[in-house]
Amino acid sequence: MCGIIGFAGKAEAVPVLLDGLERLEYRGYDSAGIAVVSEDGALQVKKSKGRLSVLQKLLETQEPLSGNIGIGHTRWATHGEPNDTNAHPHVGQGGKIAVVHNGIIENYLEIKQSLMRKGFVFSSDTDTEVIVQLLEYYYRKKSDLLEAVYDVLNRIKGAYALGILCSDFPDQIVAARKDAPLLIGYGEDGNYIASDATALLAHTRTVTYMEDDEVAVLTAEGVRIFDGDRSLLEKEKHTIEWDVSAAEKCGYAHFMLKEIMEQPEAVRKTISCRIADKEIVLEELKDAKELLKNISRIYIVACGSAYHVGMVGKYALEKLLHIPVEASLASEFRYSEPLLGESALVIVISQSGETLDSMAALREAKRKGSRVLSIVNVMGSSIARESDYVLYTWAGPEIAVATTKAYTTQMVLLLLLGVYLAKQSDIIVREEYGKIVGEFQKLPEKISAVLNNLKDYQKSASRYFNHNSVFYIGRNVDYALGLEGSLKLKEISYIHSESYAAGELKHGTISLIEPGTLVIALAMYEPLAEKTLSNIVEVRSRGAEVIAITTELTAQLIGSQSSELFVLPETHPLLQPVLGVIPLQLFAYYVALNRGCDIDKPRNLAKSVTVE
Ligand code: M6R
Repeated sequence: MCGIIGFAGKAEAVPVLLDGLERLEYRGYDSAGIAVVSEDGALQVKKSKGRLSVLQKLLETQEPLSGNIGIGHTRWATHGEPNDTNAHPHVGQGGKIAVVHNGIIENYLEIKQSLMRKGFVFSSDTDTEVIVQLLEYYYRKKSDLLEAVYDVLNRIKGAYALGILCSDFPDQIVAARKDAPLLIGYGEDGNYIASDATALLAHTRTVTYMEDDEVAVLTAEGVRIFDGDRSLLEKEKHTIEWDVSAAEKCGYAHFMLKEIMEQPEAVRKTISCRIADKEIVLEELKDAKELLKNISRIYIVACGSAYHVGMVGKYALEKLLHIPVEASLASEFRYSEPLLGESALVIVISQSGETLDSMAALREAKRKGSRVLSIVNVMGSSIARESDYVLYTWAGPEIAVATTKAYTTQMVLLLLLGVYLAKQSDIIVREEYGKIVGEFQKLPEKISAVLNNLKDYQKSASRYFNHNSVFYIGRNVDYALGLEGSLKLKEISYIHSESYAAGELKHGTISLIEPGTLVIALAMYEPLAEKTLSNIVEVRSRGAEVIAITTELTAQLIGSQSSELFVLPETHPLLQPVLGVIPLQLFAYYVALNRGCDIDKPRNLAKSVTVE
């Protein structure tokens, strides 16, 4: 949720920190701050409510901070409203120690009260201030910063990625993590900590992923990483493949539009290394046959858009594998006593690989003896590391809060997995298999064809952007797509919107349809297009305006009953939702643009949700 950056090097720290924060701002953006230790050993802190640009202005207009070592933070508020005081870094009572934190400290109240009894005075409402004051307390007692850090980590409960500066050690940053992402970057001019790799691409691609309970000490010269027992570790270094431009707008007005337009290429990357000689090859899942023998049910667990992918997957995988498949919201999963155990395969889908609810579901599944396969975009993320099998989407960094290319590639990969497993267990006939594989390969070009009609969606959005309420209807996979279309619209344009299984509308919600209500009818799933048509007629008779999305197969049928019609290229019915989501993304984007919304950073949201 929050973004953390830290730099210990030879160059001035402030520009490095601000550049890193700019790239991390999508993780949270209600306040920002930095702390730097100056050459003469003074801890200097600047922080401010609002976007990073407010902090940048502050730094330009006030006496500049200077030093070669510092930490920075961009916040998504949990404890305490977004204001200057609650912004990070938080500083200990003695004015020597500063801390930035991503995560939540669950027992902060108990610790706060105990410290207050000892005379500590708190200035913010945050759980993070408890960390820094507790650190101050132990540091005073032991005069050993690292020992004091371990004492703090033993006392706090919850999730954290921490960056710590202490002016008594003006050349050191101490970092620690548990259940929140943190990686170390090794650069030529110094070393870094960051919440994710996008913050480091301009400086280095060589990184190490910190694991839970590890503590790192960084200086300009090197990095030492210790485990929970204080033993020095030899950690593997990884090379990030993404280049800097992948995390830049490259002339687009918004990251969201750039990422929408990147979908043909992203899908190509997802499939190209996994289809050879007309065969799906999943190197990551060599023991698929063995795995399938023991599996009698599948759970697909995820949050938000990734859950919507899971819903499409449910329909597809049940059809392909002939076993029960349930799509489950990760936040509900572990509290609903799912039928886990060795005979259940749990598929976790997560772009960031850090979503706390999905992570918790994964751990619950493993604890109960199920195998976990994850579909993840961010390499080395927690979900990827803790899964038995990982399929990476290879979509490249996704910066806009509203997911687009990650969603599409997750869906492609899940469908590819379904077809692969069906082949491994000899359920799918050769001819059908060949047809689907061929269609997978044509997806990039068909997505491009949909994107070529971008102007039509732009026009449609400028006609309808003033509506206060929008309904999406569809059946089967079209219903799952409607959920995604509706979420996209809500999150970036703030228009109230709902998605309904088309046949369900008449059981209550149709009472909301009145003359002029906008209904987006999805009728791409050909076997049920006629049924959906009946529901379109029902809303039309009550005065609704209907934008319909179909394929060439059913265009005539559906077109007769709609105010506007978009016709998509056809593909195999299983893959149709991959194309079907593109118009929904474009429509949401242009509606939000017309309404003057902050598209890449919608209010109240953050890119990766690391709180429950
Ligand atoms: O990183 P994840 O895929 O686990 O994130 C899950 C959801 O938070 C995410 O899909 C969210 O719904 C999207 N930002 C919506 O566009």
